Amino acid sequence: MSQFQPFKHLVEQYSGLEFNGIAEQRLHKEVIKNSESLGLGLVSYFEKIKGSPAKLTELVNQLTVNETYFYREPAQIKLFVQTLLPRLQKLAQNRTVRILSVGCSSGEEPYSLAMAIQETWGKHMLSQVQIDAGDLDEHILNKARVGVYSAFSFRALGEDLRKKYFQATPQGYQLNPEIRQAVRFFPFNLKAEHYPAEDNYYDVVFFRNVSIYFNLDTRKAIQHKLQKLMQPNAILLLGSSETLGNDFDIFDLIEEQGQYYFVQGAELLQQANYQRPLDIQVEQPKNTAPTADGLSPTKAASMHSTAQHQPKLQTVTNHVTVEQVVEMLHDSAQYPQALVRLEKITQQEPDNAPAILMKGWIALNQKDFNQAQKLIEQALELRPWCVDALIAQGLCHKWQSELELAVQSFKKACYANPESWLAHYQLADALKHLQDSTAAQQAFQTVRRILSHNITAHSGSEWLPLALPVKDVLFLAERYLLNAKQQPGHNVSGA
Ligand SMILES: C[S@@+](CC[C@H](N)C(=O)[O-])C[C@H]1O[C@@H](n2cnc3c(N)ncnc32)[C@H](O)[C@@H]1O
Repeated sequence: MSQFQPFKHLVEQYSGLEFNGIAEQRLHKEVIKNSESLGLGLVSYFEKIKGSPAKLTELVNQLTVNETYFYREPAQIKLFVQTLLPRLQKLAQNRTVRILSVGCSSGEEPYSLAMAIQETWGKHMLSQVQIDAGDLDEHILNKARVGVYSAFSFRALGEDLRKKYFQATPQGYQLNPEIRQAVRFFPFNLKAEHYPAEDNYYDVVFFRNVSIYFNLDTRKAIQHKLQKLMQPNAILLLGSSETLGNDFDIFDLIEEQGQYYFVQGAELLQQANYQRPLDIQVEQPKNTAPTADGLSPTKAASMHSTAQHQPKLQTVTNHVTVEQVVEMLHDSAQYPQALVRLEKITQQEPDNAPAILMKGWIALNQKDFNQAQKLIEQALELRPWCVDALIAQGLCHKWQSELELAVQSFKKACYANPESWLAHYQLADALKHLQDSTAAQQAFQTVRRILSHNITAHSGSEWLPLALPVKDVLFLAERYLLNAKQQPGHNVSGA
């Protein structure tokens, strides 16, 4: 047994967070760092955190992944604010609609909801909702309360909203007090036996991009406990890539406006015009006569009893293949549907590298770099020489301004397929940005050589929409080489 196993176990028991694969290295690093700074060996450090909740919390706080940003998954936020919130308001009659964001990290998610509500319905609407937000990590909650953010949090937020709601300070951009006061933050451990809220309280729970860190049993247990906090008619929203991995027949799964969410309660189901997700075929019960409440027996059962529940997605999409998803990746509006299919594929085949890679590609395009990196690395563990994965990894580094790392990935892609003009082009472009003119010229020459022999040469990419217009690539390569030739001291021999 590894000397880190007891730490893994303790952290998992306390927080639900699992550390496997690459994530495990992070756990090792933090444990070593903490034990050294206390001047303790690993065994003594373990005894210390076992006996001290404060020390254990300190370690867990170092291990949480707090990646978040304003208006993450904007289509989902729009669906909630414009369509679902009015429904909840109608059901709540005269009381405030109660919203919970759990695993709220530094507050971007609940604050985005407050801003979007004000933007859509005006200021008065903020007084008709109550937004609560909780997280396990108390350091991050303090950051949320202060509400000061760096550019990284504004990846998906328009400049107009940034200017309207934030003030520049020497520490970063601070959110205006009106929106900050609209959110109450408090500690909330999803793994705890009892949650810090009343039963049947919330109308909607945002539980986005948190479940990915938990195993299946933990996710299921959390969903049951969240359900206890929720009104009989209520909505649960997870991140789009997580939704199917969390369908435990505890709630009903709805697709609306291309987005997926969970719901309970007949009124909300009816208003959503309950339909099963695309592609998903359910074995119909033999008796399909409507029940007294006008719903089919499957729906009625799914609302009233988990025990009698028809498994909703059991015959799903045996026919869905990654090839069918390839096309969808060209259009970001289709990402939610693509993710549902990819989730299904990876549930059935956890080692399907192209499907994992495609999920990584979507995360990358949503600028969720941590998640993208994790998924791309997972795909590369399965297929170390996959050109698409290596190029995607390079782009992930490049878009985070990690140019040296980008160059390494693109070089590997060129090595994996020396005739991939796309890999050479990406390499050339990264080298150009690194101002390594000699190496960039060599790479551009290779692009020119491949494409001038055969303008229809295969890009080398199979799965992702990576290929660029060939004529543009050839033009850019030639222009770079011409400019370089005109620079004094150019020293690369012509190809
Ligand atoms: C990746 S962030 C997601 C933030 C936000 N929901 C979003 O979608 O942008 C995950 C958050 O979950 C929190 N978390 C992890 N384990 C938790 C637990 N057991 N209870 C509550 N929060 C937890 C982490 O501290 C982290 O801030």
